[in-house]
Amino acid sequence: MEAMRYSLLAGGKRFRPVLALATCAALGEDPARLMPTAAAIELIHTYSLIHDDLPAMDDDDLRRGKPTCHRAYGEDTAILAGDALFAEAMRLVCERQDGGGAVQVAVLRELSWATGVGGMVGGQFLDLRDAGLRSADALRLVHTLKTGRLIAASVHVALVLAAPSEEIADRYRRFALELGVLFQIVDDILDVAGSEVVMGKAVGADARLGKATYVSFHGLARARELAAETHGRARALLADVPGSTGDLLDLADHVYTRQS
Ligand code: IPE
Ligand code: IPE
Ligand code: MG
Ligand code: MG
Ligand code: MG
Repeated sequence: MEAMRYSLLAGGKRFRPVLALATCAALGEDPARLMPTAAAIELIHTYSLIHDDLPAMDDDDLRRGKPTCHRAYGEDTAILAGDALFAEAMRLVCERQDGGGAVQVAVLRELSWATGVGGMVGGQFLDLRDAGLRSADALRLVHTLKTGRLIAASVHVALVLAAPSEEIADRYRRFALELGVLFQIVDDILDVAGSEVVMGKAVGADARLGKATYVSFHGLARARELAAETHGRARALLADVPGSTGDLLDLADHVYTRQS
């Protein structure tokens, strides 16, 4: 439990829960109602970071401005801390998310889909196998899966609660997908152009591992153009959607301009 709290409470932007709550608010639903699920998503995200940093994966020493979980507690404990964060996320939804069994099952479905082999874990596997080296489309797919799906799920869980029309839901889903890919493109850019102190994690880690990233594949200048295009598409998808989308547009701008 100490190792779980160490990584979870080390800091972090809380981008995914904030996105879930902002989507709720945009759709006219009380964000407080979604808080257990928003928190569960942050537990899942933290689990993914602990495992991503392990020696068998990206082998990183610094995360959220502190030694990585395995550096502080050992690999054995770090693996279990990640596993437990995932399980506790499921428990949080089952025990605390209101809306009844149907809402809980729909939320769990979104989360398991986003994290499983068709989502984050599948994307992490493709990333480790350098699947993104094959083509621009393959690279975008890796980014969609490893990072985009959980970010998209943060929007999807709000759609579960607010239940807008299918036409509106579809817009939000397409927005979420672009936003998720944008998040990882910018992460790739910050790995070469960002600051270790500001980000609280190592820079140059992708080059050290010879990773397929938007920068290694397209070059820094083109990666920046692709980020701008993706940001533009995300914004455009929300342009004439009913609801108060101001906070979501601000979040999209933040993902595009962030330095950490
Ligand atoms: C880092 O995520 C891992 C990626 C998916 C790129 P964040 O940039 O959201 O990390 P924290 O939560 O702020 O530490
Ligand atoms: C991580 O991608 C995606 C996850 C599912 C955790 P990265 O490996 O680029 O994330 P950082 O740069 O270590 O935060
Ligand atoms: Mg990684
Ligand atoms: Mg990593
Ligand atoms: Mg990275």
